[in-house]
Amino acid sequence: MTDPRRPTSLVVFPFKQEEVSVVASNLRIASAHESVAEVWAVAAAEDAAMAAVQSAAEDIHEGPIRVFAQERLGSLRSGKGDGMNTALARAAESGFGRVHFYDADITNFDRSWIDGAEAAADDGGYQVVRHRFPRASTDAMITWMITRPLLAKQFPGTVLPSLGQPLGGELLLGRSAVEALASDRFVRARSDWGIDTVITHATASLGFPMYEHNVLDGKRHALYGRLDEIRAMAIECLDAAISLRDRARPSSTGLFAADPPAPAPSDLKHTVAYDVGPTIELLTEGWSPEEQGLAESFPAGLRDEILANIDAPSFDFMTAEVWGETLDTLGSGFVLGDAAWESLAFRLWLMRVLAYTTKEALWGYDAAIGYLEQTIRDYEKGADHHGHR
Ligand code: LAC
Repeated sequence: MTDPRRPTSLVVFPFKQEEVSVVASNLRIASAHESVAEVWAVAAAEDAAMAAVQSAAEDIHEGPIRVFAQERLGSLRSGKGDGMNTALARAAESGFGRVHFYDADITNFDRSWIDGAEAAADDGGYQVVRHRFPRASTDAMITWMITRPLLAKQFPGTVLPSLGQPLGGELLLGRSAVEALASDRFVRARSDWGIDTVITHATASLGFPMYEHNVLDGKRHALYGRLDEIRAMAIECLDAAISLRDRARPSSTGLFAADPPAPAPSDLKHTVAYDVGPTIELLTEGWSPEEQGLAESFPAGLRDEILANIDAPSFDFMTAEVWGETLDTLGSGFVLGDAAWESLAFRLWLMRVLAYTTKEALWGYDAAIGYLEQTIRDYEKGADHHGHR
C-alpha cells in the first residue's frame, strides 16, 4: 500500500525560451504542492535559457526541482516531442505514480490545476486527465482548423472528435499510461510539435479512461502577432494529424467523462488572439513556381481561388466546407519537409483562419464558438456519411 501522505506525483514543464520569471513561478507553485514529490524542467537545449532557469531554480526551496536538457530521441525536428519523450522515458524508470505536464509559459498557473487533475484521478480512477479551458474565439486556430477537423474526419464516432483540446500540453498521466507511452515507438519518433496530437491519439486508442477537467479562468499565456509565429506548429500538427490516418481507432465505448461546459471569462470574449492585417500580407508573399505548381493540382474550382492570392489576398471562399475538401487534398498529398508543400499548406490554413476571423468570429464569442463546434460535428457526420473509418 502506498502511504497516502507521501507525495508520489511528478510535475514536468518542457521549456525553451519562455520568460524566466514565469517559468520560475510555475516551478515554485508545483514544488510546493503536497501531492508533488518532484518537479522537472526539461530544456530544449543546453543553452543560456536553460542556465537562467537553473539559476532561478536554485532559489526555490519548497521541494526538489531538476533542470536538465532533453535528449535526442525522435526522428523529426527536435522540439517539444523530444522534451516530453525524455521525461516520459525517465519517469517510466522511476517510481512516480502520476506525471503532470504543463506548458511553462502559463501566467495563471496555480495549485488548482494540480488539484483538479489529482482529484479526477483520485475520485474517478482516470489514467488520463486533460485540462480544458476557454480560449479567445480567434485563438486555438490550429486546434479548431487542423487537429479537430482531421480527428473528426478520421475517427468519427470515437472520443477523439469530442476532445476540446487535443493539442493541449496540460495533462496528468497515471503510471500505466506513462509506461505505455514510454514504450510506444510511434510516440517516441514524434520529436516535434506533433507530440500532443499523437499522445492524445495513443492514450485514446489504448483505451485508458480519460477525463477532461475545466480550468475556469482559461489559460493565460502570450498571444501571437502575425501568424507565421506559429507556422512550424501548424505544419507539424497537420502532419501529425494526417499521420494518424491508418492508426488504431479508439473503441467507441472507452470510458470518458468531462466537466460540464462552463462560461468563458468576459475578457477572453473580447480578445483578438493574433494580428489580422499583417497576417493577410502573408497570403501574397513569396510564391515559388513549385508552390504554384502544387496549387494547380487542386480540384478545379478551388485551384483558381487559391492561385488568385498570387496577385491579391483572397480568402472568403475558404468556408468550412471548402476547407474540408482542402484537408482531404492535403491528407493525400502533403509532404513534411518539402518547402513548397509546407508553404502551400500554411497559406491554405491562413485562408481558412482569415475567412473565419472576418466572418463568424465577428458574431460574438458564444456564437463563434458554437459555430466552430458545429463545423467539427459536420466533419464527423460527413466522414460517417462517406463511409470512412
Ligand atoms: C492551438 C495553438 C495555436 O491550440 O495554440 O491551435
